[in-house]
Amino acid sequence: SNLSVGAAHGKIILIGEHAVVYNKPAIAIPFTEVGAKAIIQEGGNDESGCRLNCKYFCGPFENAPEPLSGITACVHETLSYLQVEKPNITIRIESSIPSGRGLGSSAAIAYAVVKGLFRYYGHQANEDEILRLAQVAEIFAHGNPSGIDVVAVGSEGPIRFQKGKGAVPLPIGKTLHLVIADTGRFGDTRTAVESIRTLYEQDRLTTQRSLDLIEDFTYHCEQAMAKGDVKLVGCCLNLAQEELSALGVSDEGIDRLVDVARDSGALGAKLTGGGRGGCILALAADEQDALQLSISLKEAGATETYISRIGMSQHH
Ligand code: MEV
Repeated sequence: SNLSVGAAHGKIILIGEHAVVYNKPAIAIPFTEVGAKAIIQEGGNDESGCRLNCKYFCGPFENAPEPLSGITACVHETLSYLQVEKPNITIRIESSIPSGRGLGSSAAIAYAVVKGLFRYYGHQANEDEILRLAQVAEIFAHGNPSGIDVVAVGSEGPIRFQKGKGAVPLPIGKTLHLVIADTGRFGDTRTAVESIRTLYEQDRLTTQRSLDLIEDFTYHCEQAMAKGDVKLVGCCLNLAQEELSALGVSDEGIDRLVDVARDSGALGAKLTGGGRGGCILALAADEQDALQLSISLKEAGATETYISRIGMSQHH
């Protein structure tokens, strides 16, 4: 029988989140420890011709609840791009990426679905088109997304992303050991992005200054990564966290985990993704320190921790 699969992994924003919405560069890395899969199969037989099977909902597209409207819009847009008039398919979505944690769950699902549909209908995959179509779902989920998430969930290595300029692969001088720790609280990226927009309109000078500083730290971080200056990378992460805090997207839970990480020997720590809940990331000196950090963060109340390596050993 006719069956196709599309897949994507999670993503981590190392530095530059939020500023990237204001056309600044940001650095993202693939988070391959988790991922999403879309399995497209013949059969569905409802009015729209599409059926969705996922964790929260199984049924015809028309009945999908509001939080899934991004993904259904993305499917309709993709089918119309592929000129499919009468689909008769079931899309099954499986994901190990926790949602609302800044780890790219919504982008990975959208990317996997679009990729799966391209495969199912035997269409030559054009990466730019796939990104544009996956972004349809992100606009529903986040309002005014920069586009970094959909690029990062399909990328094979670290990238620098800038709106309108796309992604550039980044050289890594020395392996970076990262610990991701979940605050256990849902981080609403849309609200976080909107809160900075409000701030920007109320106090443009101060907000612009923070965004410009994040741009500087991102630039220095990129240079430090290329040179393998891990300590300097850590400094840049800490400085970026200061500005994210000033912009109001950090919170008590994040600050606490960031403090614990720094007290437990992290070279740098900050929130990752939208903030206001979600995850933090901490940079460890080596593998052993990463394990120790992960334990300390769990003891401090992190509901989940992950260890991720960025460098040549990343692609197995
Ligand atoms: C979310 O992963 C990153 C943000 O900068 C939002 C965006 O770029 O769309 C917070």
